[in-house]
Amino acid sequence: MVYMQNELNTETPAPRLRLANSGDALAIAALHADSWQRHYRGAYSDSFLDGNVLENRMAVWSERLAQLNPDCFTVVADIGNSVIGFAHVVLDQDQEWGALLDNLHVTYSLKGRGIGTRLLAHAARELIERHPSDCRLYLWVLEQNRAAQSFYIAHGGVCVEKTTHGPVPGGGTVRVQRIAWSDARSLASPEVT
Ligand SMILES: CC(C)(COP(=O)(O)OP(=O)(O)OC[C@H]1O[C@@H](n2cnc3c(N)ncnc32)[C@H](O)[C@@H]1OP(=O)(O)O)[C@@H](O)C(=O)NCCC(=O)NCCS
Repeated sequence: MVYMQNELNTETPAPRLRLANSGDALAIAALHADSWQRHYRGAYSDSFLDGNVLENRMAVWSERLAQLNPDCFTVVADIGNSVIGFAHVVLDQDQEWGALLDNLHVTYSLKGRGIGTRLLAHAARELIERHPSDCRLYLWVLEQNRAAQSFYIAHGGVCVEKTTHGPVPGGGTVRVQRIAWSDARSLASPEVT
C-alpha cells in the first residue's frame, strides 16, 4: 500500500520497525521520490524531480528488494500497512569508514517525531548483529541539507569530509559531506525501540 500524505495525524500510534521485503518497493519508492522532490530541490535538476523521479526510485527499489542480499539491508517504519520511513545500509562499503547508510527518509508530515531516531537505532542494531566485528558507519548528506546535518550531529555523527559527487540521478554534480560514526553501538540505544 502506498502511503498518502496527511493520512496520519497527531494521534498516530507508535510505528513498527522491521526489515523491508519485496512487497515494500512501491511504498518506499513513493516516499523516497516525494522526499527528494521536497528536500533535494536546488541540488538535483528540476527536470528530473518534476519528471521521472518516481520511475527512477521504483527501478532502484524493485531491484534492491527483489531478493535477499547478505551485503545490505533495508529497515522500514510502518503503521498498519503504511510505510512512513526507511533506512538502507550497505555493509563493508568503504575500507576506511565501514558500512554506508545509503538513505534515511521519513514521511514529510511525520518529521520531528522520533521516527528517524528509531530508524537509525534499528539500523545500527541490525548492523551490530550482522557485523559485530566492525560497526563503523557513515553516510553522505547534501551540503544544502542543513536540517539533516543537524540531526546527524545531534546523534553523535562527525563531519569528516566535504567533496563533490556526480553525476547524480538526473545529471549534474552536488556538494556533499561525509558524516561518520566510529562505532554504531552509540546509536543503538536500548531505550530507542
Ligand atoms: C532527517 C530525518 C531522517 C530525521 O528524522 P526525524 O524523524 O525528522 O527526526 P527525529 O524526530 O527522530 O529526531 C529529531 C532529533 O534530531 C535532532 N535535530 C536537531 N536538529 C534537527 C533538525 N533540523 N531536523 C531534525 N532533527 C534535528 C534533535 O536532537 C531532535 O531531537 P529532539 O526531538 O529531542 O529535539 C527526517 O527529518 C527526514 O526524512 N528529512 C528529509 C529527508 C532527508 O533529508 N534525509 C536525509 C538524507 S541524508
